[in-house]
Amino acid sequence: MTVTIVGAQFGDEGKGGIVDVFGEAADVVVRYQGGDNAGHTVVREGTEYKLSLVPSGAVRGKVGVLGNGCVVNPETLFDEVDTLRDRGLDPDVRVARRAHVIFPYHRVLDGIEEEVKSESDGNLEVGTTGRGIGPTYEDKAARHGLRVGDLLDPDVLRERLSYVVPKKRALAEEVYGVDTDDRFDVDALFEQYRSYGERLAREEMTVNAGAFLTDRLAAGDDVVFEGAQGTGLDIDHGTYPYVTSSNPTAGGASTGSGVSPAVVADGEVVGIVKAYLSRVGTGPMPTELGGVVGDTPGYEEDTEGRREELATRIREDGGEYGTVTGRPRRVGWLDVPVLRHATRVSGFTGLAVNHVDTLAGIEEVRVGHSYTVEGEELHSLPATTERWGDCTPNFRTFDGWPEFDSSAVAAEGYDALPAEARAYLEYIEDELDTPVYAVGVGPGRSETVVREHPL
Ligand code: GDP
Ligand code: IMO
Ligand code: MG
Repeated sequence: MTVTIVGAQFGDEGKGGIVDVFGEAADVVVRYQGGDNAGHTVVREGTEYKLSLVPSGAVRGKVGVLGNGCVVNPETLFDEVDTLRDRGLDPDVRVARRAHVIFPYHRVLDGIEEEVKSESDGNLEVGTTGRGIGPTYEDKAARHGLRVGDLLDPDVLRERLSYVVPKKRALAEEVYGVDTDDRFDVDALFEQYRSYGERLAREEMTVNAGAFLTDRLAAGDDVVFEGAQGTGLDIDHGTYPYVTSSNPTAGGASTGSGVSPAVVADGEVVGIVKAYLSRVGTGPMPTELGGVVGDTPGYEEDTEGRREELATRIREDGGEYGTVTGRPRRVGWLDVPVLRHATRVSGFTGLAVNHVDTLAGIEEVRVGHSYTVEGEELHSLPATTERWGDCTPNFRTFDGWPEFDSSAVAAEGYDALPAEARAYLEYIEDELDTPVYAVGVGPGRSETVVREHPL
């Protein structure tokens, strides 16, 4: 049995926490895309763990797998593994030999490309996490990337580096006109990454992910596929070009891990929804409240009618600051067309709605129910980002709900939620024609109302 966890919005929906709750019964937790651009928070026995690369399940003694669809920075990987060990845990992490490797030059190029884009006309800067994600996937698609398996063989490693590194150095120096250092030096990189390869081999961390997972499933194990980012950041189904470079949607669970789509479709696919909307980086956001300088398009020129106070209140109460970068996140009302789109793309069989506590105490809660653009009403996301940027939301209004005791409600169950909050959740269920399996009422594990356990 499998459960696939997919972010229904723009990342940071609280996927880590739900993987933690649903993954309790699982044996294996698999990341299938992305890299250390993700930031997942898991709270265990009052201790907070922030993970970028290691699958959340590793905090609870599950086998964590980084699938072939991931891009792996070995330095981050070992840092996280060592930190977890220092804190008394014994994480069992396996890495696909087919996964691509992030090198220091990818990070440098990520920064340079963002800077160049920011100086261009047309606002092409994405606001990336600067982790080298895009440049690494570029190399994968260009067929000159290096894979985890290449780190295990010194001859292959040197051969591949000798081909690609001079090209990267020339790009940095001759196209972008920046000075380069050891991060663009074949010998230095060979030494550093050879030692990572030795450690991966010594600790027997590498696997043929598809075969490994198929064997575990055949043996009766339960597997959770943990999506990073979210549908709006999907390179195909998100708001291109303001996206990441992989497929967080459910199809990615198959291609990014090496199991058949039928395996994913046989299991449950749970869409993780934040009760409002947050976004890090640039790109349109029709239901945005307030704004973040540098990220909200046109914000510096026009702050009229943006409801700053409410935005600040939600940002502070919801802890809406990036796990990886610490940047303030943009916040807005729930955008239902985004959720309809996400539900269609990934085929959600259930939903988890988080941060219902964060909205408590707000008198009137709104949702963007549909959009109007050029006189037409739309119920789902238009295919071009420019058109999305032109959409005006048609709001629906809900009575707000009072503050409540999260732990008590979680212990008592769904019916203990304020009636107004239940009405809000039932609206979401109806619109998406998908049941709500869990409701997040606080960051802790004991602050999740579980109605149905997919495993
Ligand atoms: P992820 O990237 O989707 O795993 O989410 P993040 O961990 O980046 O961001 C979610 C943040 O919200 C974390 O700090 C969580 O501890 C917190 N969180 C998750 N669910 C809830 C919830 O229901 N209520 C509140 N107040 N916080 C939550
Ligand atoms: P989790 O897994 C929110 C955003 C970045 C940027 C865009 C591209 O914690 O939900 P990238 O570095 O991937 O090339 O950046 O995607 N982004 C995220 N936003 N949550 C994430 O991950 C994100 N990972 C990337 O802010 O806009
Ligand atoms: Mg996050």
